[in-house]
Amino acid sequence: MSAEPLEIYLTEQDLDRSLREDVRTGLTADPKWLPPKWFYDARGSELFEEITRLPEYYPTRAERSVLAERAADIAELTGAKTLIELGSGSSEKTRLLLDAFTRHGGLGSFVPLDVSVSALRRSTARIAADHPGLRVRGIVGDFTRHLDRLPPGGRRLVVFLGGTIGNLLPDERAGFLAAMRGALEEGDWLLVGTDLVKDPSVLVPAYDDAAGVTAEFNRNVLRVVNRKLGADFVPEAFTHVALWDADQEWIEMRLRARRPMRVRVLDLDVAFAEGEELRTEISAKFRPERITAELAAAGFTTERSWTDPDGLFGVTLGRAT
Ligand code: AVJ
Repeated sequence: MSAEPLEIYLTEQDLDRSLREDVRTGLTADPKWLPPKWFYDARGSELFEEITRLPEYYPTRAERSVLAERAADIAELTGAKTLIELGSGSSEKTRLLLDAFTRHGGLGSFVPLDVSVSALRRSTARIAADHPGLRVRGIVGDFTRHLDRLPPGGRRLVVFLGGTIGNLLPDERAGFLAAMRGALEEGDWLLVGTDLVKDPSVLVPAYDDAAGVTAEFNRNVLRVVNRKLGADFVPEAFTHVALWDADQEWIEMRLRARRPMRVRVLDLDVAFAEGEELRTEISAKFRPERITAELAAAGFTTERSWTDPDGLFGVTLGRAT
């Protein structure tokens, strides 16, 4: 079956408006910040793909190994009829699940939801071609806003991979999980990938690689703001910073001004002092008890949880109760 036309709940205009809001709020705040969702234009998505292949960046490989090992169990346990993927991007790891569901039988539709029209077009066409008989309906939307647009009906499995849940602040995360539960019915399933707490000597290089790819990825947010809003950031004038916050148990990425500067963006004139830092991402790391507790607080029981053989990354299967 070929992929159905995309359902669009988020237009270029909506994205443009929220970028303006985020830039205004974040760059007038003290300390300054920008949300990580703006890294991912075409170049940013390519840089992220490159990150996933770096020797220091273990999460993608570790999660893939869990899914390769457990996909058949997941198909068997859930018996899902609809597989929904949030923030699907290239849907590469989801293919392991789709292959397992195809062997198991019973999966009727695959519903990827992503903000990127181009990423969805590519992934839905490829998946529809590889899985004849599967209904593939891509949704253009934001997983923090459009969970109410997910297709209704029983035995749904929502997958949220890559550790992306860790990019939400704790309050946002609780709000997201509650909204997720609200969009599901009792008995539906949620599969979530989370990077695990570990020694900073492993964590920090994963976000500050020797080849400097993560640094370029980090600076890309400034290029996006320049291109979309006509700002005049000089990306090279910012140093990439990755640090481990041991209290919060998250990695924080920042951009540090190498010299004093002024940036024109929207109707703002934003001053940076030398050494001033702009926060661009948090990437929370989890302990297994915390995942279970946060899922429980939102109305999910943890049915299974797995890690890769090295215990680097966790994949948790919750069920709506
Ligand atoms: C896979 C989107 C969750 O937080 O590890 C990679 C993004 N940032 N390197 C992560 C990212 C810096 C990534 N996510």
